[in-house]
Amino acid sequence: MSGPLRVAVPHPEGPALLGDVAAELDLTVYDGTGEPPAALAEVEFCVPSRPTPTMLAALGRMPHLRVLQTLATGVDGFRRALPPGVTLCNGRGIQSGAVAEWVAAAVLAAQRELLAPQPQGRPGLRRTRTLDGATVLIVGYGEIGAAVEARLGPFGCSFLRVARRGRPGVSAVTELPGLLPLADVVVCLLPGTAQTRGVFGAAEFAAMPDGALFVNAGRGTAADTEALAAETGGGRLRAVLDVTDPEPLPPGHPLRHTPGVLITPHTAGQTTAFLPRAYALVAAQIQRHRAGDPLINVVAAEY
Ligand SMILES: NC(=O)c1ccc[n+]([C@@H]2O[C@H](COP(=O)([O-])OP(=O)(O)OC[C@H]3O[C@@H](n4cnc5c(N)ncnc54)[C@H](OP(=O)(O)O)[C@@H]3O)[C@@H](O)[C@H]2O)c1
Repeated sequence: MSGPLRVAVPHPEGPALLGDVAAELDLTVYDGTGEPPAALAEVEFCVPSRPTPTMLAALGRMPHLRVLQTLATGVDGFRRALPPGVTLCNGRGIQSGAVAEWVAAAVLAAQRELLAPQPQGRPGLRRTRTLDGATVLIVGYGEIGAAVEARLGPFGCSFLRVARRGRPGVSAVTELPGLLPLADVVVCLLPGTAQTRGVFGAAEFAAMPDGALFVNAGRGTAADTEALAAETGGGRLRAVLDVTDPEPLPPGHPLRHTPGVLITPHTAGQTTAFLPRAYALVAAQIQRHRAGDPLINVVAAEY
């Protein structure tokens, strides 16, 4: 196809946020709901909305599509709908600061009991847990994990790090069982893949010390919900969860009502910094694609 590059974006604000590059594009806005506009069929570079059924169906009717640039890091919703020959890029980095900020807030609020019920009458002396001197185990130590460490480190804690493959300063996931008993706080930042499903099961939760805190801002499927409910329901562990399995949890699920468990609705990455950061990445990727330069954030087949 000749002429301006045909690009689809999901937000009405998107074209303005692309800056100067927008003037050189043929832009379509489709938010993934309702009938897709006819122009979507001509698009070569698509920034999809969330993976709604209509968005996923539309991908199968875009014969010129070459790049699918998501704005999320987790691409689990798009993997199966990806047409052959299309390069899938994710939004790794866009939300790292926001998610790390949420993790820091979650850990501090839980350790210092900021969300505990108001004491009645004149409270006696009560000492809370602290991050000072604590050990924080980060499981899924990537972009967000490093941002969490940068934010929590000044509070005086030390870190254990786990990723798929071991490297200096980072343990392989096969070493997780030996590390869990050492952790005051476990932060799960695992992506939603077949390999991460149930990484935290009954045995892993049982290996955490009494009173330890489990924080999940990766994917809910990485943790066995019923095993976590059992450990927190008895009061042995505490948890702060931005992601759950299923998501959302059914209204009457015990985790929703357990003291010591706080749940947010998958909003850790949603701040006012999101759209400007997202479209800065999109603009840079469009320029790379037009110049024939290698794209960044290309998602490997196993993710
Ligand atoms: N709650 C939210 O709003 C929100 C927002 C953004 C992202 N997220 C979630 O956060 C996840 C992490 O984001 P990120 O930017 O930090 O991604 P990233 O930089 O790609 O890091 C992911 C880390 O997970 C590790 N990993 C992958 N599979 C694993 C396995 N089977 N066992 C152990 N470790 C494994 C990787 O290890 P290697 O380095 O060895 O490959 C890598 O260190 C995303 O995938 C997404 O699911 C959530």
